[in-house]
Amino acid sequence: MDTLRIVGGARLSGTVAVSGSKNAALPILFATLLTDGDVTVHNVPDLRDIDVTLSILGCLGKQIIRRGDEIVVRTRHEPPVDADGYLVAPYDLIRRMRASFLLAGALLARHRKVRVALPGGCAIGVRPVDIHLDAFRALGCTDALDEGYVVLRRRVLRAGRIAFRFPSVGATENALLAAALAPGETVVSNAAQEPEVADLAAFLGKLGVAVHGAGTPVLRIRGVRRIRRAAVEHRVIPDRIEAGTYLLAAAVTRGAVFVRGAVAAHNAALLAKLRAAGVALEVRPDGIGAAWRRALRPQRVVTRPFPGFPTDLQAQFMTLMALTRGRSEICEHIFENRFVHVAELRRMGADITLSGRVATVYGVPALKGCPVMVSDLRAGAALVLAGLAASGTTVVNRLYHLDRGYEKLEHKLAALGADIRRVRN
Ligand code: UD1
Repeated sequence: MDTLRIVGGARLSGTVAVSGSKNAALPILFATLLTDGDVTVHNVPDLRDIDVTLSILGCLGKQIIRRGDEIVVRTRHEPPVDADGYLVAPYDLIRRMRASFLLAGALLARHRKVRVALPGGCAIGVRPVDIHLDAFRALGCTDALDEGYVVLRRRVLRAGRIAFRFPSVGATENALLAAALAPGETVVSNAAQEPEVADLAAFLGKLGVAVHGAGTPVLRIRGVRRIRRAAVEHRVIPDRIEAGTYLLAAAVTRGAVFVRGAVAAHNAALLAKLRAAGVALEVRPDGIGAAWRRALRPQRVVTRPFPGFPTDLQAQFMTLMALTRGRSEICEHIFENRFVHVAELRRMGADITLSGRVATVYGVPALKGCPVMVSDLRAGAALVLAGLAASGTTVVNRLYHLDRGYEKLEHKLAALGADIRRVRN
């Protein structure tokens, strides 16, 4: 298995270009199942989750043409159904990527009988789907659990009113996908406001499904009976989590980095915390620059749904606080078990105590490199940042988690001056 070998201490400097957003690209690629027309998606990152998604689309009758960051999705044949007439998304596909439960909404939009494997837990906690199912029920669908599969059935999909108990990103996306083919107006309240949801809404607009209120808590979807078979093109938004990770990498290594393509409105919560900590920021129309300044200040961070501080940057921010003198507090409000990186950071010399959903971080002057183990994507990013700042060598194991979400990570960091290389074992 590949590892990353990082010799810490280099101050990162220069410009890095942000890739397209993985979390925006995935639902948009699933949304291509709504149409038989050709879809061209630009700015798609080259990541393992994208590979998995494309192979799922292939199994469902799509032909994929990939040219760099451009992907063309064409319809070859109808998706296969089983002997009982069910369109099946098997466990073998779903288990490889939790986001594949988004298939449920896209499939349900076009088929009356669907079986989708239930995603299991993952390193950061159990991942239930009850909110997704609430959305499907509101559109006239019944559900049952059978041998680890969610069995979804409906006669016609009808527009409805969906009120979420929590603004789940995945459930909002599933609601958009299913409601797209429920004729009439569906209203989703307490919807997720994440930029990735707005990007999916923009894509649906190109398919002829008008979505009003994207980026606000109330979405109004004008569902249609069928999508006209016209070719559409879409460019995926930049990855705000990748952008944020590089801004934090600049601060952690006492460097100065310009992240080309980063959008300030997508990262307002992070920028506010960086500013409060004393990091110098330059917000420009073409990107965001971050430069370390002496004597950063500790912070209190609580992860919340957008526009709150993103759970996907919690671990990386913790690395910065681990090296910031004073007492910081980091509360994880989205996932119940997203502190697996704490034990690894401690092994590198960080002073962090955990109590339930709260991590208390006492900044130390330096971290020391050692072999570390990645438990999940963003925890991995936090450990890479720690390795870049630490003295000595850090060997990052279980790299496949990082490969799920950071395009050309070691190349981008090396171009900024980091001493980092992938070792193929
Ligand atoms: C979450 C993040 C998203 C991030 C993604 C990948 C939030 C609000 N969402 O999206 O920004 O990009 O992880 O790390 O920060 N839940 C239920 N029932 C459901 C669905 C969710 O109880 O049916 C709970 C989950 O257990 C969790 C929370 O809601 O505690 C987050 O849910 P959700 O937004 O759905 O997660 P993702 O879509 O994976």
